[in-house]
Amino acid sequence: MSVMKKGVLALTVTASLIVATATVAKPASSEKHAIYATELRQSIFKLLGSNMGPLGAMAKGKIPLDAKVVEKNATRINQLSLMITDYSRTDTSKFNVKTEALAKVWQQQDHYAKDAGKLTKASAALIAAAKTNDEAAIKKAIGGVGKTCGGCHDDFKKD
Ligand code: HEC
Repeated sequence: MSVMKKGVLALTVTASLIVATATVAKPASSEKHAIYATELRQSIFKLLGSNMGPLGAMAKGKIPLDAKVVEKNATRINQLSLMITDYSRTDTSKFNVKTEALAKVWQQQDHYAKDAGKLTKASAALIAAAKTNDEAAIKKAIGGVGKTCGGCHDDFKKD
């Protein structure tokens, strides 16, 4: 095998190892660790909820639509969506923690990451819609984000 080919092979192997470690759950090392990991995970979702609240109210016409607020909150939601898998990596399912996360979160990590990716995409579409200032398009895109929240909850969260 040529040096060039060996180099490419080494790179490919390294890249697939990185991808593999990115999706492997790690069990919490103690109850204390599990509680802290749960708090961090839930913090992401609390912030998602806090940023989504006003957007849902705007979509329903309960408060006036403000494209600047939509853009700001959608940007935060987009950033938070990128943290979901990292902050869900520690498997707390063997510990007695107060959580609504189903054990499936750690058993079907690719599916979970896919659901998080849908939120990344939908929130990016909402940022773009907010920039157009088109009320109907913005409301539709808020609905699109909400759908991805609900989609993952159906799959991975206790009701
Ligand atoms: C990739 C999956 C996924 C996506 C996407 C997702 N959630 Fe969740 N959400 C969860 C899981 C799992 C929990 C339970 C976490 C726990 O209790 O440990 C949760 C919990 C919550 C909670 C309760 C947090 C608490 O502990 O008080 C809120 C609020 C929430 N999500 C809002 C949202 C909103 C709003 C969106 C969309 C903008 C969203 N989530 C998108 C999986 C997801």
